[in-house]
Amino acid sequence: MEKMWAGRFQKALDKQADDFNSSIHFDKRMYKQDIEGSIAHAMMLSRQGIITAEECNDILNGLSGILEDIESGKLAFDMEAEDIHMFVESELTKRIGDNGKKLHTARSRNDQVALDIRLYLFSECEEISKQILSLIKIIKDKAETAKDAIMPGYTHLQRAQPITFAHHILTYAFMLERDYSRIADALKRMDKSPIGSCALAGTTYDTERYFEAQQLGFSDITLNSIDGVSDRDFCLELMSAFSILMMHLSRFSEEIILWSSWEFKFIELDDSYTTGSSIMPQKKNPDMAELVRGKTGRVYGDLMALLTTLKGLPLAYNKDMQEDKEAIFDAIDTVKMCLGVFTPMIATMTVLKGNMYKAAQKGFINATDLADYLVKKGMPFRTAYKHVGEIVAYCIKENLVLDNLPIEKYKQFDNSFDTDLYDEISLEACVNKRISAGGTGPQSVKSQIDYLTEFLNEKGIY
Ligand code: ARG
Repeated sequence: MEKMWAGRFQKALDKQADDFNSSIHFDKRMYKQDIEGSIAHAMMLSRQGIITAEECNDILNGLSGILEDIESGKLAFDMEAEDIHMFVESELTKRIGDNGKKLHTARSRNDQVALDIRLYLFSECEEISKQILSLIKIIKDKAETAKDAIMPGYTHLQRAQPITFAHHILTYAFMLERDYSRIADALKRMDKSPIGSCALAGTTYDTERYFEAQQLGFSDITLNSIDGVSDRDFCLELMSAFSILMMHLSRFSEEIILWSSWEFKFIELDDSYTTGSSIMPQKKNPDMAELVRGKTGRVYGDLMALLTTLKGLPLAYNKDMQEDKEAIFDAIDTVKMCLGVFTPMIATMTVLKGNMYKAAQKGFINATDLADYLVKKGMPFRTAYKHVGEIVAYCIKENLVLDNLPIEKYKQFDNSFDTDLYDEISLEACVNKRISAGGTGPQSVKSQIDYLTEFLNEKGIY
């Protein structure tokens, strides 16, 4: 196929160079946005008297036909076309003749591509945001069904203090709430139409950029034409948000992997989200969680790739920028795929409350509460802390736990110990007494669940 720009050249582009230069094999996924953009552009040209109403009509009919035929599978992408923009334009001219050649008046592929990616990202982010909300909902549901399950809370992966399972996994819901709002924030900044910036300097035609932006659902236009075509901050911002989201899923995955091991056995993943081994008959592996953890690196890589591509680019458009798409497409595909598997994996897992409770009974995780017991009797915290440390050391030596150390022994350490200490350091008491706002106590867990319910309801999720 002859290039649109062939007039200036004596020789055709080398075949290998042509393949190297072409982006249709990946930017074809923006066909819908490219056509939408072209429809708005034709309408603007006609409104401003730059093309006639009849020419505009012809173009609009041609474009809708192309969209229909691509979607029904009647029209295949021509891989010889340089990119999706050239493909749509040349197909239009093939269909409606010379009027098709008027469409590219007062625009350039540089502002066209900057527009198409934005429109594409708006629609993909809508889907990703919905996926995030569904995961928040599943976490909240899980927390509600296992509100009374007590497990060890950890620091340094050492048993630290008793918490409820609900309190633990709700943490992930709050991370995801931030992920949701980070994406929304990035979209707010992306909500400016670049179309009409043209190649870099604007145009001599009397265009109406606000009209075109409005047709496409933007709230505003980019105010500097060079910025309009050279900015890819929105890709970086979204990829940063996706990277943080993946980091959260990866941390969650790590816990799922640990918890499903025989060493923990806090949960059992459903068979439909685990795999077996080709040699070890007993194996049930948490591959989905491992892959989510693994694919996190990929999304970080996409972000780093584009940051590196953009670094050092002079203004305005440079062909390096064509590399933006594969990076952001890969990040989007990966995030969607991961959320798609992760959410049902969490929804179907079984919480093994008994095992969690057993683990919480070991590791002296009520030692802080024992110290607090002495503090309530008037002892300074540091003194109490020291006494309890000695008691723990004694129990370890004697293979006892705080709950079954006899009161006579306690009294040898300090006379203010009394039999009421046993109730005070029961796992249930340790959890229920954590009454501070945001703590693991039942009132705080209820407030967390209420907050998340309201957050989800506002977004139409019940
Ligand atoms: N395929 C190109 C890209 O993705 C479209 C813009 C081409 N502009 C140009 N001046 N060659 O960036």
